[in-house]
Amino acid sequence: MHFYLKFLLIGIVCYAREPADKGANEKTRYILNFLDTLPTQNRYLSGQFAGWSNVTFNLIQMDQITNLTGHTPAILGCDYAAGWLHATPPQTIINYSCNKYLKDHSNANGLVTIDIHFPNPASPDGGFLKNRTNLTFTDLLDFQSETGQRWKSYLNIIADGLNELQEANVTVLFRPLHEMNGAWFWWGNQNSNDFRSVWISLFEYFSTEMNLHNLLWIYAPDQSAPNPSMFYPGDDYVDIVALDVYVDDPNSMQGYEEMVRLGKPFALGEVGPHTTDGHFDYSLWPIAIANHFNLISYFFAWDGIYSPIENRNAYQLFNSKHVINRDQL
Ligand SMILES: *[C@@H]1O[C@H](CO)[C@@H](O)[C@H](O)[C@H]1NC(C)=O
Ligand SMILES: *[C@@H]1O[C@H](CO)[C@@H](O)[C@H](O)[C@H]1NC(C)=O
Ligand SMILES: *[C@@H]1O[C@H](CO)[C@@H](O)[C@H](O)[C@H]1NC(C)=O
Ligand SMILES: *[C@@H]1O[C@H](CO)[C@@H](O)[C@H](O)[C@H]1NC(C)=O
Ligand SMILES: *[C@@H]1O[C@H](CO)[C@@H](O)[C@H](O)[C@H]1NC(C)=O
Ligand SMILES: *[C@@H]1O[C@H](CO)[C@@H](O)[C@H](O)[C@H]1NC(C)=O
Repeated sequence: MHFYLKFLLIGIVCYAREPADKGANEKTRYILNFLDTLPTQNRYLSGQFAGWSNVTFNLIQMDQITNLTGHTPAILGCDYAAGWLHATPPQTIINYSCNKYLKDHSNANGLVTIDIHFPNPASPDGGFLKNRTNLTFTDLLDFQSETGQRWKSYLNIIADGLNELQEANVTVLFRPLHEMNGAWFWWGNQNSNDFRSVWISLFEYFSTEMNLHNLLWIYAPDQSAPNPSMFYPGDDYVDIVALDVYVDDPNSMQGYEEMVRLGKPFALGEVGPHTTDGHFDYSLWPIAIANHFNLISYFFAWDGIYSPIENRNAYQLFNSKHVINRDQL
């Protein structure tokens, strides 16, 4: 009896947090719970976006950060679609060739995140990221409709990319349909019930039909638009809540309380300055986090002129005692 009990205890790892995807693999469960416990230690992970797959994706800024600060960001991010581009067939706009670099980063102990600037599926030649002409949003729920067929074909390519990562045992911080409370992207500021239905159908399609069990689902509205929790699809479909935040004064970030109240781990899904003159002081973030936003599990800096490396005090940011980088994981 005693021996049997001991055997049971060794065999079962109990985590406090159950992923939204009940079939999530062991590594994905581990990472969710790791992120969940970071705030209790007053620590959070660093992250850096590296661009659009097959368009701008490259590791130059990651390497520059490593050279300047002595640390490599813990999270590397890629975007699978440069949705403003036009192409026929539009499916060629979706691309996951960045996976190669994400796998390397994961093999070096890092975490990876993926977002997607989807082209408008109502358009036969892609594009129209910020234009919803011709779009009936609920067509996304009907894979037989013309828009729905195109949407499904996009999802299938995304799923192939995510599955390639699953086969390499890479867990993905997956941040689809981001900034949905803003009125800029075609999926933004839609009827909130319709949005929730589209999110849930995407979740079901990927987890149940495509058997993707390496995803942590991130719900990431934008702090500059109202009602960040309005489109929240529900606890069963989200693992992490995040805010995208482009501000010159980190203390001014809105929506934190509303997001934290949802009861999920919290992150900064995208971070950058509002004024893009290269003079933003990134050392302000650890101070603002310590003072006002201490439930943060990670931050993910945007690239180009938004990156810490193109602004001031990247060294202080990545060397903050609160920040965990890839080499410290
Ligand atoms: C993606 O790569 C393919 C093959 O190298 C190339 O033909 C295509 O133009 C690229 N697309 C973009 C948007 O850069
Ligand atoms: C980083 O430093 C290495 C070694 O000095 C150098 O080879 C590399 O070009 C540098 N990379 C960047 C992006 O500055
Ligand atoms: C993406 O672009 C690469 C070239 O960079 C190309 O080889 C590949 O076929 C494209 N498609 C996907 C789905 O990644
Ligand atoms: C709407 O449809 C028309 C006719 O097919 C097309 O010319 C136009 O580019 C579409 N607009 C958008 C934003 O998709
Ligand atoms: C959206 O695209 C249509 C068709 O190309 C164009 O007529 C319309 O002006 C665009 N709307 C906006 C807000 O850009
Ligand atoms: C995936 O990675 C985890 C943690 O690194 C490891 O424990 C597990 O055995 C790996 N699973 C497979 C199938 O390689």
